[in-house]
Amino acid sequence: MRTFRMLISAGLLLAGATGALGGEAPAAAATCVACHGPKGVSANPEWPNLAGQHAGYLEIQIRAFRDGQRENPAMAPFVGKLSDKDIANLAAYYAGLPRGTAANGDASMVATGENLSAYCKACHGMQGVPAANVWPVIAGQQSVYLQKQLAAYKNGSRASAQMSTVVAPFGDDEFKALAAYYSQLKP
Ligand code: HEC
Ligand code: HEC
Repeated sequence: MRTFRMLISAGLLLAGATGALGGEAPAAAATCVACHGPKGVSANPEWPNLAGQHAGYLEIQIRAFRDGQRENPAMAPFVGKLSDKDIANLAAYYAGLPRGTAANGDASMVATGENLSAYCKACHGMQGVPAANVWPVIAGQQSVYLQKQLAAYKNGSRASAQMSTVVAPFGDDEFKALAAYYSQLKP
């Protein structure tokens, strides 16, 4: 918790500096910077990039955290008081930032992940960027984050009818390989 607080004050300083230079981040984004980075690209492989993510998807997820359908102790304190309008503004802002490429997975598993990605393309697109605005871009996303989400769909701690069916036949080795592949894929 202490580390979070330190990160948050650093984030507030950064957000203040951006504001002074005329950045267009909504006020509600000031606290997000500490973990999701000043430009929506996170420095920690466990914390997702938000930059260039689809706005419709971001909006659904931030609401899910606020309303308790998606649970995470790191996120919960920062979204509880957001209005629907704040959430729509945050989603539009992050969707408009340039995407990053995390490329921080296990490089020796990229080829295996690429083979497995055949199971993902119907929904997440040929290059990890789906056509539907309410579905997530996974190309370039942080590797540990991706792996954890796949495991969460498998164990039911994150609910999605589509994803739980997809991950049912797979386990940690496949999740690690898929995360390695998608994290280095240029979105
Ligand atoms: C203390 C660190 C921290 C702060 C501050 C924080 N987040 Fe997060 N955020 C996380 C973590 C960790 C996750 C991954 C949660 C999980 O594993 O399900 C996450 C996940 C998310 C996701 C889901 C991304 C996806 O691809 O599904 C969104 C959207 C998000 N955060 C938006 C925000 C916004 C907007 C703010 C500011 C209002 C914020 N976060 C503040 C740590 C943080
Ligand atoms: C039938 C369509 C479909 C298929 C096939 C599919 N997905 Fe998904 N995926 C979705 C949907 C819809 C969501 C959003 C679910 C939610 O709201 O949590 C999602 C979410 C995700 C997320 C969470 C992203 C984030 O930012 O938190 C990851 C990671 C993911 N999918 C990876 C994969 C991988 C890897 C495969 C192939 C093994 C795959 N998906 C196949 C539809 C699909």
